[in-house]
Parts: sequence; structure tokens; C-alpha cells
Amino acid sequence: MAIDPNISEPRRVEIATVAVREAQAQKTGGKPMLDFEGESTPYIDYESIDVLLSLQHPRSPVHDEMAFYIAGQVMELLFKLAVTETRAATAHLEDDNIPAACKLLRRITKIEELLTTIWPMLETITPADFKGFRDYLGTSSGFQSYMYRALEFSLGNKNRAMLQPHRGVPSVYPELLRAFESPSIWDVTAKLLARRGYAIDPDHLERDVTAPYQPNASVEAVWLQIYEANDPANELFELGERLMDVAAAFTTWRMKHLVIVERIIGFKVGTGGTAGVSWLRSIIDHRFFPELWTLRTVV
Ligand code: HEM
Repeated sequence: MAIDPNISEPRRVEIATVAVREAQAQKTGGKPMLDFEGESTPYIDYESIDVLLSLQHPRSPVHDEMAFYIAGQVMELLFKLAVTETRAATAHLEDDNIPAACKLLRRITKIEELLTTIWPMLETITPADFKGFRDYLGTSSGFQSYMYRALEFSLGNKNRAMLQPHRGVPSVYPELLRAFESPSIWDVTAKLLARRGYAIDPDHLERDVTAPYQPNASVEAVWLQIYEANDPANELFELGERLMDVAAAFTTWRMKHLVIVERIIGFKVGTGGTAGVSWLRSIIDHRFFPELWTLRTVV
């Protein structure tokens, strides 16, 4: 799962300064540029648009498959961005820079909201449309999304079994393993609280970060203290709320996925080997940053 796989060739790089842009606008009289040298445009070169738009290969003759296919690809791109931002926010917390982390947590929430807005487009695929191309998916399933797993690992949902599907994929496994073995943003947040003088259990701070996360009473007690003070000027309170935004938006995405799956395939089994909706229901109760959720019953 290289976050930046160097699969495509490096493109023509062009740097344009303010002076270059102003001269250009003068030349075109403020109108768009229409003539470019060579066999490309600067836009194609900058974002590898031609490569990106050559990656759609629906397998069936069914028209609606393209909508499903592109929705999946768009979600994968957004998972990638969410992973990138989570890593950066985690590094800011390791550096005790809470405002910088909060800025990126806001962005991660917006990415998740964007991900959730993609589901309604898929609601236009009817059960019969989906049935028309479902066989062509073979045993492929979003369950095998390594970028989604990287996001879960970096936010704190560690489950070693989720590495297994990717063991045989050399371009994916080492990076995914690194995400699994690295402390999650929630582990790093506990350490930050301890550095700020809050009483977090030493055992919890030294926990095996690859083990499934177990909610911790000292973590909840510290957050409860911060939440009871209810002080918007406290940057830790701000951090708690921004993390909560991320956790809640993630759960909303999962819930919308569950509803759309039931709407499209009812209670049929999944392509990835699960019982389908009933299996998805069994995982929907998971919450990132669980102590931030449980303290709400106490506050
Ligand atoms: C709209 C048609 C869709 C249906 C009917 C559907 C169905 C399912 C089912 C049944 C599962 C359980 C695993 C299995 O047996 O396959 C699943 C898991 C999953 N799907 Fe979808 N899905 C759809 C679209 C998508 C899209 C567009 C994405 C975006 C990449 C996606 C991402 C996922 C992920 C990440 C999981 C694993 C969830 C987890 O383990 O927490 N699904 N899906």
C-alpha cells in the first residue's frame, strides 16, 4: 500500500511564478490559454489525468457498472487522502502541536463527509441493475480495501486478521504492516495527555499497539475531567471534539454503507465471503476513540 506508489512515469514538471502568470494573462488579454507545446497539456502533466482516466475497466456489458466502479475508485482516493492526513495529524500530536493536528482532523472529517455523500449516487443502482453485473465482480469486495484498512489501523482499529488478505501483495503488505505496527492517533493522544500531566495508567501507555484496543478507565477519567470543565478555550477539549468529529463521521459512513447494501442486495451473502448485511451489522458498533463516547453517559 504505498501511499505514493511510483507506478506511473514522472511527468513534465513546470514551475510558474507570479511574474510568469501575469505575463501570460497579459498575453492572452485575460482569456484562457489555448495553445500548448508538445503532446500534452500542463493539467494532464500535473495530475496525471490521462493515467487516472485510463484506469476504468468495468467487466460487464451492463451500463450501471461504471457508476459502481467509479464510486469505488473515488472512495479509494479519499481513503488515501484520509490516511495521509491522519499520519500528519498524528505526527503533530507527537510534536505537541494540537492546533496543527486539529486543523487536519477537521479536514479528515470533511473527507469522511465527502465519502458519505457518494452513497446517494449508488442508490440510483436498482437491485436488478446490480444483479446484472454482480457476477462479474467475482470474489472481489470492499472488504479487501487495503487503504480502508490502513485508515482503520491509523485511527486505532487493530485486528491482525485484516492484514491477512494482503500478505501476498508485495506492493501493499510492507506499508500496511507498518500502519498496523505503528501507534494509532489514539495511542499517541494518550501519551500527549500523560506529557501534559494527566494520570494515564503507565501500563496503558506501554500497551502493545498491535493488540486490539481495550478502553481504559484512566483515559476515560482524564477526558471526563476535560469534558466536565467544558472550556472551549482548552486546546485539549478542542482536540477531543475534533477527534469525536472524525469518529462520528466514520460511523456515519459505515451506517450508510449498511443501509445501501440492504437496499441493493437485501440479505444476500456478500461477494467477499460474509453473510452480507448481518455481518456488516456485527461490525457497526465499533467506535474509534471509545472513551470519548462512553464519557458522554457519565458527564
Ligand atoms: C453499492 C454496492 C455495494 C454493496 C452491495 C456492498 C456490499 C458489501 C458487503 C456485503 C460487505 C461485507 C463483505 C463481503 O462479504 O463482501 C462489504 C464490505 C465492505 N465494503 Fe461494500 N458494498 C458496496 C459498495 C461499496 C463501495 C463503493 C465501497 C468503497 C470502497 C465499499 C467498501 C466496503 C468496505 C471498506 C467493506 C469492509 C468493511 C469493514 O470490514 O469494516 N463498498 N460491502
